[in-house]
Amino acid sequence: MSTSKNIAIFASGSGSNAEAIFNYFKGDGQVKVSRLLSNNMNAYALTRAKNHGIATMVFDRKQFYEGQEIADLLLSENTDLIVLAGFLWLVPETLLRAFPNKIVNIHPALLPKHGGKGMYGMHIHRAVKAAGDTESGITIHYVNGQYDDGQIILQECCELDASDSPENIAGKVLKLEHHYYPQAIDKLVRS
Ligand code: GRF
Repeated sequence: MSTSKNIAIFASGSGSNAEAIFNYFKGDGQVKVSRLLSNNMNAYALTRAKNHGIATMVFDRKQFYEGQEIADLLLSENTDLIVLAGFLWLVPETLLRAFPNKIVNIHPALLPKHGGKGMYGMHIHRAVKAAGDTESGITIHYVNGQYDDGQIILQECCELDASDSPENIAGKVLKLEHHYYPQAIDKLVRS
């Protein structure tokens, strides 16, 4: 009897990574996305979740940083892995303690380069371009109390041309995200 595994996803924005994960596990008998949570009531990620029949929750700073409401909810739902997919807030101690080594994130650069506070979205790809880097890529890592600082799980690279704009770089990196994040999550949640 295979016990089912539950994944909770946190997203603040568009949710294309979340949707790639929904699609990857669609019809999987053992693993499912049990909930999508967001700090942004306008996040398109919420619409994507609803389109897939996935439960959602919107929360504010007070709910996220004070009390145990969200940790208790995810514990009550037997969440096995928490996946940050374009989630912009630092994770509070309550959640880190409730889910030790069970929270992962994807950063669209090759950490430790181009990480830390304020380094998200196009800020990253502009910095990569400005640095004249000849490659970029993704970093999937465990989450701790700092931005982009936890133990690295996986990195994948893409070559950059001098002619690549920050937008081209973002496109190349997003393709890697959509391809590798679901696979990495699959390995983590079944291990
Ligand atoms: C992605 O680039 C991801 O690496 C970063 O934020 C972006 C989210 O994109 N964490 P989306 O919301 O998944 O489309």
